[in-house]
Amino acid sequence: MIKNFLKNCRKPQGLMGRFVAKGMNAGHTEISKWGISHLRLPRDAHVLDIGCGGGANIRRLLTMCPAGRVCGVDYSEESISVSRKLNAASMGTRCEIKRASVSALPFEDGTFGAALAFETVYFWPDLATDFHEVNRVIKPKGIFLICNEICDPANTVWTSRIDGMRIYSKEELAGLLSGNGFSVLESWTHTSGWLCIAAIKCERDDVALA
Ligand SMILES: C[S@@+](CC[C@H](N)C(=O)[O-])C[C@H]1O[C@@H](n2cnc3c(N)ncnc32)[C@H](O)[C@@H]1O
Repeated sequence: MIKNFLKNCRKPQGLMGRFVAKGMNAGHTEISKWGISHLRLPRDAHVLDIGCGGGANIRRLLTMCPAGRVCGVDYSEESISVSRKLNAASMGTRCEIKRASVSALPFEDGTFGAALAFETVYFWPDLATDFHEVNRVIKPKGIFLICNEICDPANTVWTSRIDGMRIYSKEELAGLLSGNGFSVLESWTHTSGWLCIAAIKCERDDVALA
């Protein structure tokens, strides 16, 4: 029963999924505000929120960038529907929310100045190729910000309850980012153990052969 409920954290589905997507907006408020506080965005930024869940971060980004545009993607139909409802006032003007997997983002190369992945990389199918795909849609020198509440791979409390979930350490994330077109700028650890890691998309010239 609990497992059945918690699988909606990986992919909200049906009525229970809708409930979880809305619940994540409330439950992640503190970590989301903390994570987003590390981002400096111009007023007219074009930002992507990957695994947008219930859409609360999209709403925050729209407020942070009053002349900007914010896109959200999520592979869950329920997440998309809850996100669109929450951001209804900006839909079709400054906000676009699409159903898609991180593994095949429906955007041209170099579209976004920044991309966010909050509480979602645990569920991505292959971090190396997925980071590569995120890299593709970010402009050179664009920022990729990851924020995770759980960062200790030895902690099996959640992975034993949610099939397909994987926990990454700061070092693992940094290594995967560096190997897939990013350079880690900075990372922050909250007193509760949360991790936020900021990476910048390298220009071709930044890449050197050993
Ligand atoms: C735990 S929720 C986090 C939602 C939101 N980012 C937040 O911080 O509240 C994880 C979200 O990531 C989405 N997700 C997981 N894997 C995904 C993938 N491969 N592609 C797109 N979305 C994905 C899920 O559908 C879910 O809405």
